[in-house]
Amino acid sequence: MTSGTGPFERIVRPIHWRYLGLLARCSNIPARHYVRWRLASIWATGMKPGDRILEMCCGRGETTRVIAEVVGSRSKVDAIDTWPEAIEIARRQSRLPYIEFLVRDASDTGFRSGTFDIVVIPHALHNMERDRWMTVLREARRVLREGGSVAIVEVDWPRSPLTRLYLCLWWWYWLPWRFQLRTRRDFLRRGVAVEVREAGFRNVTERRLYSGAVLVVKAEKLTAGAV
Ligand SMILES: C[S@@+](CC[C@H](N)C(=O)[O-])C[C@H]1O[C@@H](n2cnc3c(N)ncnc32)[C@H](O)[C@@H]1O
Repeated sequence: MTSGTGPFERIVRPIHWRYLGLLARCSNIPARHYVRWRLASIWATGMKPGDRILEMCCGRGETTRVIAEVVGSRSKVDAIDTWPEAIEIARRQSRLPYIEFLVRDASDTGFRSGTFDIVVIPHALHNMERDRWMTVLREARRVLREGGSVAIVEVDWPRSPLTRLYLCLWWWYWLPWRFQLRTRRDFLRRGVAVEVREAGFRNVTERRLYSGAVLVVKAEKLTAGAV
């Protein structure tokens, strides 16, 4: 998904956000609560109070606010997105002094190399073509300090048929033109962990939550003695 003024941006995206917002308010399956679902995935990234964190592709800041809850005010959280309206909403909805929302491209963030302890990319890479997600992963590696971690959170294809049904409703998979499916399918088929390794990360680990509906891939930037 790219920013711009095409029909997708003007028509589909606002409807999509409204639809997700509605589901978020009504939803209690399978994670009981939308925020809890995000909280669980952010805990699984292993971030901790005091970490300097970058969230790439933060959208309206829903996950950013959960990150802020997990790490607290000892941390500094930068959150970036190319979509100015989303950043505006994110700024309005969170006034915590230790979060900064910025309009920036995740493939060229402008941050100095080695700035962050952890870079988290939740629910975003699946919207991109492969060359773009690889560029974003390499940029994540560049801005991490030596020994720092990247964490990618994605919705995966769960084992349980009930969870699958829920996901089909959530992600509009029932639509005839199969919204979002091609790049997500491509990303998951290649394997998130494989792509992360290919981008130069080491010590790659995978965690699956909610019957496999949520996948958290974590990896380290290690230049010396890489495994
Ligand atoms: C599905 S939303 C995820 C939002 C947020 N991370 C969350 O968990 O709710 C994907 C976001 O990625 C953003 N995005 C896509 N390509 C981007 C890029 N190259 N740089 C920064 N943001 C990008 C989109 O504008 C969109 O807001």
